[in-house]
Amino acid sequence: MHRVFATRRIPQEGLAILEGKCHLKIWEEDVPPPQEVLLEEAAKSEGLLCLLTDEVDREVLRAGKNLKVVANYAVGYDNIDIEEARNRGIVVTNTPGVLTDATADLAFSLLLAGARNLIPADGYTRAGRWQSWGPRLFLGQEVWGKTLGIVGMGRIGRAVARRARGFDMNILYYNRSKHKDIEEELGVQKRELEDLLRDSDFVSIHLPLTEETQNLIGAEELSLMKPTAVLINTARGEIVDQKALVEVLQDKKIFAAGLDVFAKEPIDPQDPLLSLDNVVVLPHIGSASYAARQKMAIMACSDLLAVLEGREPENPVNFSGLQE
Ligand code: NAP
Ligand code: GLV
Ligand code: GLV
Repeated sequence: MHRVFATRRIPQEGLAILEGKCHLKIWEEDVPPPQEVLLEEAAKSEGLLCLLTDEVDREVLRAGKNLKVVANYAVGYDNIDIEEARNRGIVVTNTPGVLTDATADLAFSLLLAGARNLIPADGYTRAGRWQSWGPRLFLGQEVWGKTLGIVGMGRIGRAVARRARGFDMNILYYNRSKHKDIEEELGVQKRELEDLLRDSDFVSIHLPLTEETQNLIGAEELSLMKPTAVLINTARGEIVDQKALVEVLQDKKIFAAGLDVFAKEPIDPQDPLLSLDNVVVLPHIGSASYAARQKMAIMACSDLLAVLEGREPENPVNFSGLQE
């Protein structure tokens, strides 16, 4: 039986696929295993089922002498040293597509929550501070018919664009390549990043974290945004310079931000970002729907088993086929 280490208990619908075929060891805690445990288990395993919270770096991959596959329970795989895995013939797989709609729904929730002060208004109501209907109470920004800038027009970017059409939004996008199909389908227009930031009322980030995208949105980029604009990030925290973001929010240079991801996760409770009213902060729950998590589990475990049994996985990220 193939030895597999799972760094967390994921939905049973996925784990069931491995039953009877693998000797599965699961890290049962609600926090990631310490790096020395990951190293130890990688050394003993053929398959590693991991989360975005696990740093599968060069050291872990080197320790994994018998490792054939690393199945990431996420679509983003910036937590894994892909090059090192490729060099060692270790297949890395991810879970694209099945979490697209859940994540796009969450991005749109953040957009609406940021625009209309939902979180502070909820707090105010619960705190018993509501004395009267007020002409100026919690005034926010309209969404209908406004301009949305999508940074990264991949699976999730497109899904957000589709939702925005229902709000009659004008949609701009910034992306590495031009996508004629989506331009025709939704009437979206490609722009340079600077132009998109200048012209958008809402900016939503849907890029992967890579060397090129790290700190792509820095102080200079943020300074281009409208004072009424809302920034939404459900991609990866490190794509935005978080210190610079705190400053523009503090100085009210933009209206609000809606964040599901942070430079460091979990965010330090003392972080100045958390003292601001004009930011909505969520604990990285983009894909957290029952349905998405179940499908992610099935996808990750099917691909893990496929590689162990010498079959082609559905979602390899560092090999087009199994051959080295
Ligand atoms: P995707 O389909 O691969 O889309 C990524 C898009 O970014 C592609 O259109 C790609 O361009 C573009 N891109 C990549 N590098 C670029 C660069 N340097 N400059 C400009 N554009 C670039 O990925 P997805 O499934 O939409 O997911 C996007 C990211 O969302 C994931 O990587 C993950 O980090 C994050 N995510 C977060 C959550 C959450 O829980 N908050 C959930 C799911 C995903 P091309 O069209 O040219 O390939
Ligand atoms: C979540 O952040 C993912 O990349 O799946
Ligand atoms: C608000 O509730 C209104 O009727 O305008």
